[in-house]
Amino acid sequence: MFLALFVAASLVQALGTRPPRVLQQHEVLGDAPAGYVLTRPALPESVLTLRLALTQSNISGLIDELYDVEEFVSPLSESITAVQTWLGENNLTSSVLSPAGDWVEIQVPVEEANTLLDANFSIFTHTDSGIQTTRTLGYSIPTDLLDHLDLIHPTVTFPHPYENGPKMGRSTMDWLLNTTSTPCANSSSIDPACLQYLYNIPSTPAVGNSSKLGVPAYVNFWANRTDLKTFLEIYRPDMNPSTTYAFQSIDNGTDPQNVNVSSEANLDTQYTVGLATDVPITFISVGGFDFPEALLNTAIFLLAQQSPPQVISDSYGYDENLVSQKLAYRLCNTYAQLGARGTSVLFGSGDGGVTGLYPNSSCTGFVPTFPSGCPFVTSIGGTVGFPQQAANFSGGGFSNYWGRPDYQSDAVSAYLRLLGNNNTGMYNISGRAFPDLATYAVDFEIVLDGEVRQIYGTSCASPTFASIVALLNDQLIAAGKPVLGFLNPFLYTKGVSALTDVVAGYNIGCGNSTGFYATVGWDPVRNNRSTILELYTLTLAQVTGLGTPDFVRLKNAVGLVDEE
Ligand SMILES: *[C@@H]1O[C@H](CO)[C@@H](O)[C@H](O)[C@H]1NC(C)=O
Ligand SMILES: *[C@@H]1O[C@H](CO)[C@@H](O)[C@H](O)[C@H]1NC(C)=O
Ligand SMILES: *[C@@H]1O[C@H](CO)[C@@H](O)[C@H](O)[C@H]1NC(C)=O
Ligand SMILES: *[C@@H]1O[C@H](CO)[C@@H](O)[C@H](O)[C@H]1NC(C)=O
Ligand SMILES: *[C@@H]1O[C@H](CO)[C@@H](O)[C@H](O)[C@H]1NC(C)=O
Ligand SMILES: *[C@@H]1O[C@H](CO)[C@@H](O)[C@H](O)[C@H]1NC(C)=O
Ligand SMILES: *[C@@H]1O[C@H](CO)[C@@H](O)[C@H](O)[C@H]1NC(C)=O
Ligand SMILES: *[C@@H]1O[C@H](CO)[C@@H](O)[C@H](O)[C@H]1NC(C)=O
Ligand SMILES: *[C@@H]1O[C@H](CO)[C@@H](O)[C@H](O)[C@H]1NC(C)=O
Ligand SMILES: *[C@@H]1O[C@H](CO)[C@@H](O)[C@H](O)[C@H]1NC(C)=O
Ligand SMILES: *[C@@H]1O[C@H](CO)[C@@H](O)[C@H](O)[C@H]1NC(C)=O
Ligand SMILES: *[C@@H]1O[C@H](CO)[C@@H](O)[C@H](O)[C@H]1NC(C)=O
Repeated sequence: MFLALFVAASLVQALGTRPPRVLQQHEVLGDAPAGYVLTRPALPESVLTLRLALTQSNISGLIDELYDVEEFVSPLSESITAVQTWLGENNLTSSVLSPAGDWVEIQVPVEEANTLLDANFSIFTHTDSGIQTTRTLGYSIPTDLLDHLDLIHPTVTFPHPYENGPKMGRSTMDWLLNTTSTPCANSSSIDPACLQYLYNIPSTPAVGNSSKLGVPAYVNFWANRTDLKTFLEIYRPDMNPSTTYAFQSIDNGTDPQNVNVSSEANLDTQYTVGLATDVPITFISVGGFDFPEALLNTAIFLLAQQSPPQVISDSYGYDENLVSQKLAYRLCNTYAQLGARGTSVLFGSGDGGVTGLYPNSSCTGFVPTFPSGCPFVTSIGGTVGFPQQAANFSGGGFSNYWGRPDYQSDAVSAYLRLLGNNNTGMYNISGRAFPDLATYAVDFEIVLDGEVRQIYGTSCASPTFASIVALLNDQLIAAGKPVLGFLNPFLYTKGVSALTDVVAGYNIGCGNSTGFYATVGWDPVRNNRSTILELYTLTLAQVTGLGTPDFVRLKNAVGLVDEE
């Protein structure tokens, strides 16, 4: 064996040729994604930085245990050797990117990459923004590496610019005000006092400083500390108005205070600092234009930290079909790793109902959002009105990439029985259903460039629930208990008792049709324990999930004795 290898290697050197590698197509697109046009071939001599994802050794073990991470995701030494041998044959050297060694990076000119990967790297132009990007519509890898190399990025996943944050202004939905004499009474808008009232969130400061909450921001969405101070002065007069966020840069991300303040980043910082009282908040600003890569780099960065924040509130997303399935799986597994490290990863479910991240009435099938369809994140939908009902923009539905995880199979089966033939053929009946729960997501007041503005979208919901989780973690740490980490198995079991079912509303569908309804339509045997669970869970996985949170009930559900 060894001898044969040695001979083969010497032969290669003597002849100066490579042994032919049989290539097999690995990822392919039919066409450039919507929004892009092919402009020209990439310059042969321009250098690409490609990332190679080595096959992780034991993802099923990780998922079984959600515990002791690196042991499961480190590549096998065979994988490292196989990939390094291939790179060496081509005079390429790699640098290791991730703590487990499962991502490596190479630099290679376009001409060589095209041969190496049987690719055709070209320049594509994003029509709306004019931004140009180098991608290929397909690539291959050697057949003998199929078990060792998961994917190469950037290749077939395009960097759709994240154009839309939450919407400014009031929603057009009917406002169902019924709040006389509550802290929600004063205005027809939502502010921290109203959310504290609705969800029983304490205004008392965190007991310790070990529970941390991270708020990533991408593609030049920046927060403003002066606006945050004004916000606290108006809405949290009981807090020190100098309370602010810590700043963390990834990929040269910045925290400028004099340009283009973003409603999204201001919302995220104002409603975490303003609700998770005295929990340290880190604003994680990620540089670069490529959103999926920014997600990946954020996750890799957090995994490399000794103690990453135990809650991440992320209000950004993508239509699932725009991320290659292999890259989506890989990112999702990275969220499983974070969950195993004790971090709850939360994403807003999107603002287009069942039509993707944004409303798109010309859809012909429902478009799930990413990463909400990943079973290892907690997806947060939106509600409106008193009593709360589903907000019609609340993203929800079923993933086309991931099957249904066990933790939600009972809840979703019950919903599907109720759903009957509604929407048949429009969604993946065996997919992971999202969102997992929901909070108010309409008419939030923020301070933007010195002025109070109103804003809506599931971007409002993620920081709201993240603050609740961070405050629970604070109390868990003080009680010497572990933090919540990956939330979903808890939410679908004990957590159900701490969530309030949302029983009205629906989200928007394709054309003028509706998406999924939030409704408890039936209630056959209330005294049967499993049916009560079903009753709570059966309706809302597709628009508002299990319902809205209640801090005090959550405290009980996580085993903290309520001292109030
Ligand atoms: C490669 O892409 C260029 C455009 O960038 C196109 O003109 C050319 O035909 C493609 N080559 C192949 C072999 O498909
Ligand atoms: C994967 O991890 C599980 C759980 O620890 C273990 O039982 C299994 O043997 C592992 N499989 C491999 C191939 O290492
Ligand atoms: C690798 O680099 C060496 C030294 O620069 C050179 O002699 C050789 O031809 C290169 N091989 C390939 C496959 O590019
Ligand atoms: C308004 O709230 C009060 C007190 O909670 C309740 O009794 C009443 O039924 C509510 N009205 C509507 C229309 O929801
Ligand atoms: C309502 O607004 C008035 C002034 O407009 C203020 O004095 C009062 O404290 C507010 N009440 C609540 C519950 O926010
Ligand atoms: C965190 O809290 C501990 C104990 O209350 C204190 O000693 C420490 O200085 C605090 N650390 C920071 C960074 O605030
Ligand atoms: C960050 O900035 C440095 C210095 O300008 C540059 O060398 C580096 O490539 C940048 N890194 C990224 C990821 O943009
Ligand atoms: C942000 O904060 C600075 C002060 O730090 C202020 O001068 C500026 O007007 C604010 N708004 C914007 C859009 O930068
Ligand atoms: C700020 O926004 C303006 C207008 O949208 C844009 O032209 C400019 O490039 C932005 N500046 C930065 C630093 O992103
Ligand atoms: C809207 O949906 C149609 C049909 O699926 C699709 O062709 C189009 O690209 C979508 N528009 C956007 C902006 O995603
Ligand atoms: C099915 O769709 C109809 C409207 O077409 C709606 O009234 C009904 O509530 C839906 N049922 C469920 C369970 O979503
Ligand atoms: C939706 O309904 C409006 C008014 O009834 C109509 O003008 C429009 O064409 C419809 N759109 C679709 C996509 O069916």
